[in-house]
Amino acid sequence: MLASGLAQRSKDIDPFYVMDILAQAKKLEKQGQDIIHMEVGEPDFETPQPIIEAGIAALKAGKTHYTPALGLPELREAIANWYQTQYQVTVSPNRIVVTPGASGALLLVMGALLERDKKVLLADPGYPCNRNFARFVEGKAQGIAVGANSNYQLTAEHINEHWDDDTQLALVASPSNPTGTVLSRQQLTDLSAAIKAKHGHFVVDEIYHGLSYDGIDTPTVLSIDQNAFVINSFSKFFGMTGWRLGWLVVPEQYEPVMDRLAQNLFLAAPTMSQYAALAAFNNNTLELLEQRRQVFEQRRDSLFPALDTLGLDLTTTPQGAFYIYANCSKLLNEQYPNSMALSRYFLQQAGVAITPGNDFGRYQAEQYIRFAYTTNQQRLVEAVERIHTLGL
Ligand SMILES: Cc1ncc(COP(=O)(O)O)c(C=O)c1O
Repeated sequence: MLASGLAQRSKDIDPFYVMDILAQAKKLEKQGQDIIHMEVGEPDFETPQPIIEAGIAALKAGKTHYTPALGLPELREAIANWYQTQYQVTVSPNRIVVTPGASGALLLVMGALLERDKKVLLADPGYPCNRNFARFVEGKAQGIAVGANSNYQLTAEHINEHWDDDTQLALVASPSNPTGTVLSRQQLTDLSAAIKAKHGHFVVDEIYHGLSYDGIDTPTVLSIDQNAFVINSFSKFFGMTGWRLGWLVVPEQYEPVMDRLAQNLFLAAPTMSQYAALAAFNNNTLELLEQRRQVFEQRRDSLFPALDTLGLDLTTTPQGAFYIYANCSKLLNEQYPNSMALSRYFLQQAGVAITPGNDFGRYQAEQYIRFAYTTNQQRLVEAVERIHTLGL
C-alpha cells in the first residue's frame, strides 16, 4: 500500500534504476545463477587493517560518546595536514568539518548555500544524489548536458551560458562519477574565475581523489581557490564506505554556520569511525592504498580495450575513479531499445550487472551504460567474455 500524506519533496526523489537491476540480480542469485557485479560504486577491498584496528581500539577504550559537531579536533588536524603533505596547500583545521560521508557534506553545503527555488548547476551525466539534495532543501538542480567534447565536465563556457539571476552555485566532481574524467588545473582555474565573476559559490566534489591514473595531476581546487567548498570522504580511496565518514572544507567564515547545521542535522559523525580514520594517514596504510590504486589502474587498462571489442563506443579514457561510461548505441535494437533494457538483457542472459545511464541524468542517458571495475581482474575478463557470447 502507498504511504499517504507524504511531503511533495519525498515524492520527487526517485529510487535508482540500478535498484531494479540489483533486485533482479538477487533473485537470479537465489536461483543459483552466478552474477558478476559491475554496478557497485564501492571498492571491493576491505577497509585497511590498521584502520580496522584503530576502530576496535577506540571501542575498547570506551570512545562511544558524541564528538564535537565539527569533528574530533585530532582528525580535523590530520585532514588539514593531508592537504599540506598531499597537495602542499595550507588549510587551517578550523575549516575542516567532519561529516557522515560525503553525503553529509553535500547536505550541509546545499542546506547552507542554496535558497528555496534557487539553482545549482550540475553536469549531466553526474552523481544522481546531487539533484535530490537540491530538491530536499527546496532548491533546483539544473543539469547541463556534457559530452566527450568537454571531457564530460562543466566548463567556464557552460557557466557563462547557463548562469542566471536564480543561480547560486555550481557543483563539479573530479574525478567524476560516472565518467571518471578529471578536471585539469587550467579548467578548475577557468571555472573558478567564471563563477567568481557571477558572485556564486564553487563546490568541488573530490571524493575520488587518490584514485587517478596515468600519473595525471589532480589538483585540489583549494590550490587555486581558497573560497571554494570541497567535498571529500573516507569512502572510496580509503576504502571505508560502511564507516560513514567524510569531510567538507569551507572558507573560515562559514565554520559557525556549518557547526550549527551539523549540530542540528546529525550532532556529529560516528565517533568510532573518526578514531579509526586517524590511522588512514599512517604510512603503512597509505602504502597499501597505493597498491590498491595500482590494481584499479591495471583493471582499467585491461577493461577499457576489452569493452571496445564489444562494440561499445568509448570516446574518453577515464583517468580516475573506478568507472567506465560507455556509449552502447550500436548494441541497441528493437528487443532492447535503450540502456535500461540492455542492462536487463546483460543481467538475464549473461549474468553481468551494470548501471544504465538513466541513473546519472537525462542527456543521452538511454544510450549509455556504466561499468564499475570494483571486482577482480578474472571476473572482469569473464564478464567481457560472457557479453561477447551474446553475439551482439
Ligand atoms: C561523486 C560522489 N559524491 C558523493 C558520494 C557519496 O559518498 P559517501 O557518502 O559514501 O562518502 C558518492 C558515492 O558514490 C559519489 O560517487
